[in-house]
Amino acid sequence: MKQQDYKIIKPVAGDVDEVWGLINYFAETSQELLPRNRNQILEQLLSFWIAKKVNSKGSQKEEVIGCSSLHIWTNNLSEIKSLAVKQECQGKGIGKKLIDKCIEDAKNLGQREIFALTFRPAFFYKQGFRETSKDNLPHKVWNECIHCPKLLTCGEVPVIFSLNDV
Ligand SMILES: CC(C)(COP(=O)(O)OP(=O)(O)OC[C@H]1O[C@@H](n2cnc3c(N)ncnc32)[C@H](O)[C@@H]1OP(=O)(O)O)[C@@H](O)C(=O)NCCC(=O)NCCS
Repeated sequence: MKQQDYKIIKPVAGDVDEVWGLINYFAETSQELLPRNRNQILEQLLSFWIAKKVNSKGSQKEEVIGCSSLHIWTNNLSEIKSLAVKQECQGKGIGKKLIDKCIEDAKNLGQREIFALTFRPAFFYKQGFRETSKDNLPHKVWNECIHCPKLLTCGEVPVIFSLNDV
């Protein structure tokens, strides 16, 4: 898939079902993402970016192949959430572009750092993130863990990126 075959855009309400399907595919099959329901996605739609296949034939619906969202925790700290790229579209630079959009948003909002909780730390290191300690994150972040099926066996790695570097 070449760069001209997809676009990174803000979603519209009509994209919610596909975004929900993408996030929950990974939530159910590999538990790499926390599940989200349609209503949560709709309510937080402004925080999302999506990757959409560009349909050269024009008339058919363009497929959502990736998504990411930015959650603001404090004046200085945001989290990248719900980052997912359809399996058959991975390895083409789409995940990196979705992260770049969140970084751009966080920077424009005057944030200092952006973090993620991930089972794929190597991917984030490649984008300039470094491992951090859970103790460096606000306590309220961990309230969400209560809803996670991996609560007691969680292997998520906290990674962080300084926005002063961009
Ligand atoms: C993690 C994920 C979003 C990466 O998306 P992607 O579109 O495949 O990644 P990209 O193609 O943009 O990769 C960008 C770079 O990171 C590298 N990379 C991708 N996945 C990697 C991994 N698991 N480990 C190390 N490097 C990785 C790529 O080789 C590429 O390197 P390059 O810039 O030198 O070419 C995707 O694999 C995914 O959706 N995984 C399942 C859900 C998930 O784990 N989400 C993250 C939860 S926080």
